[in-house]
Amino acid sequence: MMSALALLGGEKCKSKPFPPWPQYDEREEQALKNVLESRVWWRTPGTQTLEFERAFARFHGAAYGIAVTNGTAAIEVTLAALGIGPGDEVIVPDFTFIATASAVLFAGALPVLVDVDPHTYCVDPAAVEAAITPRTKAIIAVHMGGHPADLDALVDISRKHGLPLVEDCAHAHASEWRGRKIGTFGTAGTFSFQSSKTMTAGEGGIIITNDAEFERLARSTHDCGRMPGEWFYSHFIYGSNYRLSEWQGAVLNVQLTRLDEQTRQRDQNGRLLDDLLVEIEGIVPQMRDKRCTRNGHYGYIFHYDARAFGGLPIGRFIEAVNAEGIPTQASYAPLHDMDVFTSGAYRKRLSGEQATAEHPFLHQPFPNTMKAAWETVWIPQYALLGDEQDMYEVAAAISKVQQHAKELQ
Ligand SMILES: Cc1ncc(COP(=O)(O)O)c(C=O)c1O
Repeated sequence: MMSALALLGGEKCKSKPFPPWPQYDEREEQALKNVLESRVWWRTPGTQTLEFERAFARFHGAAYGIAVTNGTAAIEVTLAALGIGPGDEVIVPDFTFIATASAVLFAGALPVLVDVDPHTYCVDPAAVEAAITPRTKAIIAVHMGGHPADLDALVDISRKHGLPLVEDCAHAHASEWRGRKIGTFGTAGTFSFQSSKTMTAGEGGIIITNDAEFERLARSTHDCGRMPGEWFYSHFIYGSNYRLSEWQGAVLNVQLTRLDEQTRQRDQNGRLLDDLLVEIEGIVPQMRDKRCTRNGHYGYIFHYDARAFGGLPIGRFIEAVNAEGIPTQASYAPLHDMDVFTSGAYRKRLSGEQATAEHPFLHQPFPNTMKAAWETVWIPQYALLGDEQDMYEVAAAISKVQQHAKELQ
């Protein structure tokens, strides 16, 4: 008899496709055409990227926005503007995309990796505080999958120790903590507009801030060390070219008009999935802290316990659910396990004593990161733009794989 599982030739659970991503309509087409015909394609004399910086900052309750080439660059420029360099340490969660740590290395500083909370998978404030040394110069928090890190505790730690807090908001456009948008709880919030993000121009990034002096330095850093109103060929501080093009600014202006409604939809579907998936033995959705008043949901994250699926390995589970027409993917690997750290290659960016010193944090067990990295499954954000029926089909697919798990052994 043929199996019911789509992976083994059965019928898929998914009855209709999820909405496509990225989304666009004639407004993006018109905006791109307008840039084309204006013959102003670059940031400096342009209006589109400037307008976008202001609109995106306003949307998040920030006074300033500095658009940059991508989300990695947003962190690099932020660290440069904070004056972070050789000999310094920056605290970074072990569970994140490599950019959060590589930007620190790019500054010539050491990313000190710390474990995350076992339920929200966001950086653990107690671990942050324990990792502070006289060399610590900043803390970077990541709002994992769109769920804010514990900003109450992190802001307290940052004030108590006089350390700037940077929010890596690459997953969290429009997320809220206690009714306030993320991105301005610390000195700066950095965002990505790479293709998989909840709004996109293919590539792109932005830094938002309420700190006028930080803004002055970050803006100058992103534009070759120039200062506003000064001669084009005068350069005042060390900088580089991180400017975003007018094409991207034009597309992002339109993408931003959809963000609020799309976030409402993702958040609503995320809550529905929380209710549906918690009923399935062995599945535990990422915990939602009560203070998270809106989850921007770059991804929907859940913990998978193979024991409730007859020992089915997570990779095979993902394959089976994908075959049912539900896009799911594995998580990030722990940073401390990456070749760049295990091979010692990261030391090439360090200097002085730091380049040869033992870095004991690399030999810590990071139990919560290990769980987040190897036992969680992600549903990409565009699936949360589906309707209620789509969410029921997600749950049905997971239950079906559970029922038939033995056939996959
Ligand atoms: C947590 C996190 N930080 C930073 C980035 C870097 O963004 P980008 O790919 O735009 O450089 C990403 C995404 O790709 C990310 O997921």
